[in-house]
Order: sequence, then C-alpha cells, then structure tokens
Amino acid sequence: MRILIAGCNGLLGQNLLRTAPSGHALIGLARHSEAALPERLGAYHARDIADPATWDFVREMLKPDFIFNAAAYTDVDGCERDPAQCERINRDAVRAMAATGIPLVQVSTDYVFDGTAGPYTEEDTVNPLSVYGRVKLESEVAALAGSASNLVVRTMWVWGKGKGAKKSFTDFVRESLQAEKPARIVSDQIGNPTLAEDLALAIWVLVGSKCSGVYHVTGSERVSRLDWARSVAKFYGLDSAAHAALITPVTTAELKLPAARPLLSGLRCEKLERDTGLVLGGLDAQLLDHRAAG
Ligand SMILES: NC(=O)c1ccc[n+]([C@@H]2O[C@H](COP(=O)([O-])OP(=O)(O)OC[C@H]3O[C@@H](n4cnc5c(N)ncnc54)[C@H](OP(=O)(O)O)[C@@H]3O)[C@@H](O)[C@H]2O)c1
Repeated sequence: MRILIAGCNGLLGQNLLRTAPSGHALIGLARHSEAALPERLGAYHARDIADPATWDFVREMLKPDFIFNAAAYTDVDGCERDPAQCERINRDAVRAMAATGIPLVQVSTDYVFDGTAGPYTEEDTVNPLSVYGRVKLESEVAALAGSASNLVVRTMWVWGKGKGAKKSFTDFVRESLQAEKPARIVSDQIGNPTLAEDLALAIWVLVGSKCSGVYHVTGSERVSRLDWARSVAKFYGLDSAAHAALITPVTTAELKLPAARPLLSGLRCEKLERDTGLVLGGLDAQLLDHRAAG
C-alpha cells in the first residue's frame, strides 16, 4: 500500500516509519524543509497540514491508499493560549483529510476525558477540560464522520526515541539526576506511560487487522508521574537517598499551568487486546526496549 504519514518528523511519525512492515511505499509530509528520516521514505513533501491546498494535492497527485495523521499542535498550554491555531491544525486539517475520502488514522488523547474516573474505556463519557482536549475530540468526530471505517487511536504519555524530537520525560528525569539537578515532578497525575515505538507497532497491527472506530492504545502499567520518575531512577541506578532527595513532588495546581490536566486518567486497552491480541509493555519493558534501541 501507499501510505502517507503526516507529521513524519515528530516522535510518533518517526516511530511509524521505523516500525513500518516491509512492502509499503511510505510518503512523508511535514512542515520542515527536510525529512528527519529520509532513508525510510520513498518521497517527502514539505507542506502545512492546515493548508487546505495540501489535501487537494494529496488527493489529486499523491493518491495514497491510507493517511496516518501523526501531525498535531501538541503544546497543550499553547493550545489554551491560541485556540484558533489549535483548531486550524488539530481539527480543521483533520476535516480536510477526512474529506479526501482516503482511509484515515487519526491519533487522539486521554485529554478528551476529565480525569475524575480513569482508567477509561472507549465507551466512557468524554468531557474535555482544555482547548486541546476539546479540539482533539472534535478531530475524532471529523475523522469518523469521513468514514465509519476510519480509525481513531487514543493514547497518552508517549515517550521514546526521535531525531530532534522534544525531550522525553524519562530523559528529563535521568539527565536531571545524573547532573545532580533537582527535578519537580507532579504527584497527582495518574496515567499510562506509552513507548512511541510500541504505539507505532500497534497502529500498524490495527490497520493490518482492518480495525475501525476508536481504540485505546497505551502501555499496560498505570502509575503517577512521580512513580514513573522513581521507576526511571531505579532502572538507571539513580535511586540513592541523595538522588531521591533531588525529586520534589508537586501538585498540578501548584504549577499554575494555563490548561487543566485530567488527573485520575489512564486508558483501558481491553478492546485492543480482544481484537488484535496485543498487550503493550509496562514501564520496565519499555525502558529495556528503549535502552536496547540505543
Ligand atoms: N506525546 C504525547 O504524550 C501524546 C499523548 C496523547 C496523544 N498524542 C497525539 O499523538 C500524535 C503524535 O504526537 P507526537 O508526540 O509525535 O507529537 P510531536 O513529536 O510534537 O510531533 C508532531 C508533529 O506534527 C508536526 N506539525 C505540527 N503542526 C503541523 C502543521 N501545521 N503541518 C505539518 N506538520 C505539523 C510537527 O512539526 P513541526 O516540527 O513543524 O511543528 C511535529 O513534527 C498527536 O496527534 C498528539 O496529539 C501525543
């Protein structure tokens, strides 16, 4: 199949390229003039997903069999400050993708929930607290309105390896402790850390299994961010009393961030397991895989 990966330079986009089964022709699309992983791509197009002309070009010239949308305005607080920009990139662009009639995979988030009663199944009631969450929910509706056979994958706390990608939470914790620098870590957010490579593999499996509708895809362990940080410290042997003293627990409220976060969150992935047999690894498995990937 010819598969267009929008956002191929981002964390998930790069991992989709790295984990692609052989036999597909991969076309990358992102804003930057150059691809992060050109060796994985048959072609690369520097385009803005929020420009409607991009999707005329894709439909008329590129004619892919599938669009995987890994592009998004992912700065949650930036979205709160600039809802119009968030809506252009995270919702209107998805409407334009869906309107091409080309089968679509849209990636969404646990921020569609309010975080009062996690972990959530695909059937649980949504109630976003932030602009980012509301607009991602609208993107889900747009994707599924395009065709009932489109796929929406909700995930959360994605981390891993990506060339030029933003620093992951585990790298932040490890580097802070190695440099003996204090790290303030939120103690009241609960969720599922998810290795980007595992998420990407699961998306390929869902598409290969012709799954459609909404699926939750996360790592199998649900922890607080503070416990996640402590697991990272232990894994890298940075768990002495002196290191432990460098970690200061803080509450989300203390950070006074523009966008509200779902606190008691987490996603249940039984539907993924039932339909594909897949169960993603817990924290230690993710850390081992991440280290092995170099
Ligand atoms: N990371 C998480 O914890 C997490 C959690 C839940 C859901 N998700 C969802 O997972 C998906 C992938 O996220 P990620 O972590 O891989 O994000 P990421 O690393 O920030 O990558 C997003 C990519 O989208 C590109 N992009 C943004 N606006 C664009 C535009 N107008 N036109 C073309 N490309 C554009 C960015 O390119 P530039 O460099 O040009 O900005 C970036 O490469 C997103 O839908 C996100 O909402 C992520």
